[in-house]
Amino acid sequence: MVKKTSRIPGFSKLTLEQRIQKVAEFADFSPEMLKALIVSPDTKLSERMMECSAGWFNLPLGFVPNVIVNGREYLVPYAIEEPSNISGPAKMASLVREGGSLEARYHGSIMAGQLQIINLPSMQTAREAVEQERDNLLKEINCQKNTINASGGGAKAIEAKPYFTAGGNFLVIQVEFDVLEGFGAGHITRSMEEIAPTVERLTKGEANLSILTNYAPKRLVDATLKLPIRLLKREREGEKTRTGEEVAQRMLLAYQFAAENPQRAVTYNKGIMNGVDALLTATGNDTRAQEAAAHSYAARDGKYRPLSRWKKEGDYLVQRLQMPVTLGTIGGIIKSHSQVEMVLRILGDPSTKELSELAAAMGALQGAAANYTLVTRGISNAHGGLNLYNLATSAGIPLEYLSGVVEEMRSLPRPSSHAARQIYEKFLAKNK
Ligand code: MEV
Repeated sequence: MVKKTSRIPGFSKLTLEQRIQKVAEFADFSPEMLKALIVSPDTKLSERMMECSAGWFNLPLGFVPNVIVNGREYLVPYAIEEPSNISGPAKMASLVREGGSLEARYHGSIMAGQLQIINLPSMQTAREAVEQERDNLLKEINCQKNTINASGGGAKAIEAKPYFTAGGNFLVIQVEFDVLEGFGAGHITRSMEEIAPTVERLTKGEANLSILTNYAPKRLVDATLKLPIRLLKREREGEKTRTGEEVAQRMLLAYQFAAENPQRAVTYNKGIMNGVDALLTATGNDTRAQEAAAHSYAARDGKYRPLSRWKKEGDYLVQRLQMPVTLGTIGGIIKSHSQVEMVLRILGDPSTKELSELAAAMGALQGAAANYTLVTRGISNAHGGLNLYNLATSAGIPLEYLSGVVEEMRSLPRPSSHAARQIYEKFLAKNK
């Protein structure tokens, strides 16, 4: 049997049809199955998924080739609106393939829910009552019939914390859940709502709200990316030649900038999230929840910090990333949305653990690509042709002139919208 590989030389240069064919070959798809990938699901589904729906809003779907995580080959689906987010991680992935490594490890699926109890006659009595009944409360939550409880997940710990604030006093009941393969939001919020009447009875207070928290410090994934320093060498026309050691040193200093400066750390982390969110979108997961979890984790000790660290270790430049990844591979829209289902098949129908590890690994590759590009040719140059299309479009160049204008812009040292307009006006004058 031919060994499955996501190394597809010239993938970015293929036509759309050829690229789809390569994805199909990788995933072992029939042409009919592939259709589901490129055709939007029907409008009936959009109505089931969203109130006031008027159809679908599409995003481009691309694939990052070359990726190997924990020794496994992936062609990684990305759904994202930013023009150039695939060549960077694909390049970093090729360095891994040539002599580095990318490993990720999932540390568990614990999330928490919160219930706020107000109008308490006695805070002390209420708190004691919850603590005494802790085991019974856990049992009551877990006796609900659902997949998570049936598979050994569910509520694992409970605590009651009093708050004395200028706006009033209240008790917060926080429950930790193991959500296993699910994302967990629905399960947790429902469980907290269901337990509220019992807690009201115990505390003699009133439930004000029940909801999960997106802060997820017990749903962490570590990813370790090792890049061979010699392969970081740059020798490109129009660019200063740099040895691998020099590029590595610049990348370390760029990381140091993010480690010291929260304003830079925010954008550094955004670079990591480009990879995580693109994969989460393509797999039908909630990117807002993921963003909330990641950024709150980045600020967990009161200072906003980068989600990854860089270090030189012998002949390698090593990035260690640690972040919560909050996604699911069951529930939500997964079984009803044909594209999501196909995308998961291309990934080999991963478990939540495996997909979370891949998400963190893509965050590490994407962050590495940003760091590398920033200190070598710069982001605007890296965005290349697609960026030129954006500049020309924003200058209002009509569709029929777009390709011609972009072609001329390629030779400009500083392409801009203004330059696009000038080229267009030159075309118009010539054609008069
Ligand atoms: C752009 O989408 C992401 C970057 O700004 C990340 C970074 O600055 O590290 C390039």
